Amino acid sequence: MKAVIYEDVRRVAVRDVPDAALEEPTDVVVRVTSSAICGTDLHMYDGRTGAEPGMVLGHEPVGVVAEVGRGVETVKPGDRVVIPTHLYCGVCVNCARGYSAACMRVRSGGFGAAYGYAGMGTYRGAQAELLRVPYADANCIPLPGEAGDDREDDFLMLADAFVTGWHATELAQVRAADTVAVFGAGTIGLLAAYSALLRGAAEVYVIDLVPERLAKAEEIGAIPIDLRKEDPVDAVKSRRRPPSGEKGLDGVQVGIDAVGFQARDRADTSRENPRQVISDLAELVNPTGRLGIAGVYADKDLHPATEGGHADGSLTVPWATLFSKGVRMGFGRTHDRRYTVPLRDLIISGRARPGFVVTDHAPLADAPGLYDAFDRRADGVVKAVLRPA
Ligand SMILES: NC(=O)c1ccc[n+]([C@@H]2O[C@H](COP(=O)([O-])OP(=O)(O)OC[C@H]3O[C@@H](n4cnc5c(N)ncnc54)[C@H](O)[C@@H]3O)[C@@H](O)[C@H]2O)c1
Ligand SMILES: [Zn+2]
Ligand SMILES: [Zn+2]
Repeated sequence: MKAVIYEDVRRVAVRDVPDAALEEPTDVVVRVTSSAICGTDLHMYDGRTGAEPGMVLGHEPVGVVAEVGRGVETVKPGDRVVIPTHLYCGVCVNCARGYSAACMRVRSGGFGAAYGYAGMGTYRGAQAELLRVPYADANCIPLPGEAGDDREDDFLMLADAFVTGWHATELAQVRAADTVAVFGAGTIGLLAAYSALLRGAAEVYVIDLVPERLAKAEEIGAIPIDLRKEDPVDAVKSRRRPPSGEKGLDGVQVGIDAVGFQARDRADTSRENPRQVISDLAELVNPTGRLGIAGVYADKDLHPATEGGHADGSLTVPWATLFSKGVRMGFGRTHDRRYTVPLRDLIISGRARPGFVVTDHAPLADAPGLYDAFDRRADGVVKAVLRPA
C-alpha cells in the first residue's frame, strides 16, 4: 500500500510499504477514504519530537472497514467509521472512567497511545491506504451515510480536531455567557472557539498571526486579533466593556492554549518562545478564571527554542500571578471515548459543521507539498485532507 513516510527533518515522501494487516483477533483493517494532516504532525516534521525515519505518519482517518478479526463483535466489513487518534482498550480502569487518553493497556511502559506518533507507541499511521485498528470494538465509531459524501470532512474532524477543540472547552469548563480567549487559530483553536460558541459563550476572541486563519475565526462569529498588529492582552481588554463596578474584570473568564510549545515570540515572530502563550494567558485571565491547555508540550524537544526553551519541556511560568488570581487549569490530550459519539451526533443533527476548517483536498501523492505549505502556515492551508482512495 502507499503511505506517507517521515524521512528526515522537513522531508516526507509517499512510498510503498507492506499492507496493514490483522495482527490480533480484536483488530480490523480500515480502507482509509480521508486522512487529515495535523499540527501535531508538524512537531515531528520539524524534527522536534524524534520521529524515526521510515515511520508512517497520520492519526486522523475516516474510512470503511475492509477486514475484521474473529474476536470483533460490533464492526463488520463495509461499515463507515471514524477512528479516534488516541487509541484505547475501552475497558481498563482509566477507559472506564472516561480517561481514554490515559488507557493503561495500549502502550507498554506508559499511558495512552496514538497512530503514527513518535513516543506514543508503535502503531502505524493513517496517512495511508490501509490502517490496522486494534481493539476495534472500542475504536471504530460508526458513521451514517456513504464514504465521500457531503459530511466526510465534518466526520473527519471527529478523529482528532473537533474532539480536541471541545476537550479544551471542557478543560476550561466553558459555560453559557463566558468570555473566552483562544490563542491559536489553527484547526484546534478554531474548533475550540467553535465549541465555546456551541456551549453558549458570550464573547470569543481568537488570537493568531495568519490572516486566513483569523478570517475563519471571524466567519464563525469570533473576534479575531492579529498579534503582529496589537498586543493581544491590551487588544482584548480594550474591546471588553465591563459595566462600572466590574472594571477589574476586563480580561476573560476563560483562556485556551491551542498553540503548544512551538509558539511564536511576539517580540520577534521569526522565533519561538514556548512561554509566550502561558504568559499572555496569565495576564489576560480574570481573577477566578479558568485555563485549558490543549496545545502540545513535548517532554523531549530535540531543538529547544533559544527563548525559554528546555529539552525536557520545563517552563518558567507566572505561577504567582496564577496563584493570586485563583486560576484553575486543565491540561492534556483529548479523551476521545468521552466526546466522539456525542459530537458525531451534533454533526448528524446538523447542529455542528466542523468541516469548515478544511481548506485543501488532495491525493496521497501531494503530501510532500502540503506538509511544506502547512508547515510555513502559507498558501492559505489551514487543514489539509489527503484522500488515498
Ligand atoms: N491535546 C490534544 O489532544 C491535541 C490534539 C491535536 C493537536 N494538539 C496540539 O494543538 C496544537 C495546535 O494544533 P493545530 O493543528 O491547530 O496546529 P497549527 O500549527 O495549525 O496551529 C497553531 C497556530 O498557532 C499560531 N500561533 C503561533 N504562535 C502563537 C502565539 N504566540 N499566539 C497565538 N497564536 C500563535 C500559529 O500561527 C498557528 O496558526 C499543536 O500543538 C498540536 O500538537 C493537541
Ligand atoms: Zn491531530
Ligand atoms: Zn484502556
